[in-house]
Formats: sequence, structure tokens, C-alpha cells
Amino acid sequence: MADVRLHPPRSLPTYAVRAPLVRWLAAEARRAHEELGRYRVLDVGCGAKPYEPLFAPFVESYVGVDPVDNPHADLRGSVEELPAADGSFDVVLCTQVLEHCDDPRRAVSELRRVTAPGGRVLATTHGVMVYHPSPADYWRWTHAGLEKLFTESASWASVKVTPASGTTACLGMIVSLYLDLAFKRGGLRRLARPLVAATNTLAEAIDARSPRLREPGPGTLHANYHVVAEVPQ
Ligand SMILES: C[S@@+](CC[C@H](N)C(=O)[O-])C[C@H]1O[C@@H](n2cnc3c(N)ncnc32)[C@H](O)[C@@H]1O
Repeated sequence: MADVRLHPPRSLPTYAVRAPLVRWLAAEARRAHEELGRYRVLDVGCGAKPYEPLFAPFVESYVGVDPVDNPHADLRGSVEELPAADGSFDVVLCTQVLEHCDDPRRAVSELRRVTAPGGRVLATTHGVMVYHPSPADYWRWTHAGLEKLFTESASWASVKVTPASGTTACLGMIVSLYLDLAFKRGGLRRLARPLVAATNTLAEAIDARSPRLREPGPGTLHANYHVVAEVPQ
């Protein structure tokens, strides 16, 4: 599973979420090293810590926290009540968790509280996605809604929200998810893979040709968003 997260194939139905996510995290891990030197990471809602290898070359420590009984987690706790001191981490990672938490405003305020001066929160969450409880699934956002959530829940030096992929990739993901499901029900899941890979490849190529499909605006759809929220020195 960790390998699929780090090297998502085009035949993965959620390629439009996973491939941009790993590229973005790899770039942010390097950027944090250039700006902060060796840094301390808190991975909130860490799951199996799939992205730890991207950060490992640059970190002083990498701590995972999860609210459920999770053998990969170093601490147990929820994003709304993090078991960590104020300002104790330089990079606070929260990938694909906000949609699952009870109270997103409290969650963002906690992410900010545990981030050190000059540090940053790297958060990702869905715009469009099928219902996927883990253990719950409550929320979806637009780029404007996420920006409002972050800026109204805490004070930051800057908040930048970018869509992970474009409108065609999002539509391709929905088609791919249901193709995968239909073939799985028929016991022929392997046959869905080339169709999903072709759908994802075509969708990416169409988005690449059109800024109006890639940039958020009236009529666009985005599967996932990436947020960088920087804390003042
Ligand atoms: C979809 S998984 C994402 C795991 C990992 N961050 C990733 O990107 O692969 C959602 C994770 O959020 C955790 N989670 C759910 N509700 C949470 C909450 N209120 N606070 C913190 N983590 C939560 C789950 O236990 C699970 O590990």
C-alpha cells in the first residue's frame, strides 16, 4: 500500500488525487529543508505513515498521531485535541484527514497551535470524492471554502490553497471509480485497469491543454486540494 501511495500507477482509480499529492509533498519536503534546515514533523491522522519516506532525509524527528488503535502511530489523539505542546513541530502534516474529523475549525486551530514560529501546516482534503468513512466521512470543500476555513480558524502569515488536478481529471476519477467497482462486482477487476489507465491519461492530457479546466473557477471540479498555511516567525 505504501508503495502505491509513493508511486501511484495510472491504473489506480484515485490517480487524480494520489499522483499530484505525492509530487506536491516531495517538493514541500525539500522546500522545508531549504528554508528550515532539519525539521520536526507531526503527521496528524497518520494512518500507515505512507509519506514518511519523502520527509525522512530532511527531518530531526517524525511523529505520527492517530485517534484509532494504529500500530504505526507514536501518539494517540484526534486533530481536534492534539497531544502535543504549543509550537512543538516545524512541519505539521495532515493529509486526507479533515474530511473525516468532527470539527474542522477546531482541527485547523489545533494544527496552528502545535506549529512552531516560522513553520507550516501542509494539509490536503477533498473537493469531490465518493463517501469513504475512516471511521467517519463528513466534509467536502471548494478552494474558497478551504481558504475561509483556514483564515477564520487561526492566524497565519499566509494561506495558499491549490487544486491538486483539473476538472477532466476529476470527471475521469469518478468514471474510473465506477468502472473499477462494476468490473470488481463482475469478478473481472483486472480488466478495468487498462480502461482506468487510459481514462486517467486522456483526462490529464485534456487538462494540460486548458487553464480554464485546471484553475478553480465557475464550472470547474477538483478532486483534491493542497493547503500550505505558514506561521509567522
Ligand atoms: C484516509 S486516512 C489518511 C491517512 C494518511 N494521512 C494518508 O494520507 O494516507 C484518514 C486517517 O485519519 C484518521 N482520522 C480520522 N478521524 C480523525 C480525527 N478526528 N483526528 C485525527 N485523525 C483522524 C484515521 O484514523 C485515518 O488514519
